[in-house]
Amino acid sequence: MKIFLDTAVLDEIRTAASWGILDGVTTNPTLAAKAGRAFQENILAISEIIGERATVSAETVSLEAEAMVREAKLVTSWAPNVIAKIPCTPEGIKAVWQCTKAGIPTNVTLVFNATQGLLAMKAGATYVSPFVGRLDDTGQNGMEVVEQLAQIKRIYGFTTEVLAASIRHPLHVIEAALAGADIATMPFSVLMQIVKHPLTDAGLERFLKDWQTISPELRPF
Ligand code: G3P
Repeated sequence: MKIFLDTAVLDEIRTAASWGILDGVTTNPTLAAKAGRAFQENILAISEIIGERATVSAETVSLEAEAMVREAKLVTSWAPNVIAKIPCTPEGIKAVWQCTKAGIPTNVTLVFNATQGLLAMKAGATYVSPFVGRLDDTGQNGMEVVEQLAQIKRIYGFTTEVLAASIRHPLHVIEAALAGADIATMPFSVLMQIVKHPLTDAGLERFLKDWQTISPELRPF
């Protein structure tokens, strides 16, 4: 499963990229507002940090297909690894299909059930983003949508990658991997949670203490 960061904060992206495990970044207007920089400049900076193997999703904000396609063309012209993020509305699906025909990569966002996701796949989206945490917030099991979309993709051979979004905690990451998500996008805080374990820290402390009991001339470092 690919790991994306759901952030527009450059320092967080730099840290994850330096670990060599970062496959991409997703942003949205809320995250862009938090970054507090010019949108294009920020997307370009992210694109450069993550390198050409990874992608960064930049969201369109118009509500009509024609304008969405215009914005999608613009953001994807900034760098080869930029993906246009388009909301799953009737106009959005129409825009995605036009983008597909024009060779513009898309990430269909704000997906809350498998039928919306199916339409995104049929329109040729590069990624489809079911929002797991926001569904959980309403008392529905968000991960079920990821599971269903992964299954639909397998049955019909769609090439769209299922991107589990709105990931809130480490269990979501494990469940997304087991549900067959191609990608999970997570906040930096969740990435830090999944790399750490208190038993790793305690074990390391003990090993370092015991190492010091070996006399210096018997140790290579
Ligand atoms: O980028 C979209 C999505 O991941 C948002 O997550 O936590 O705001 O529901 P959240």
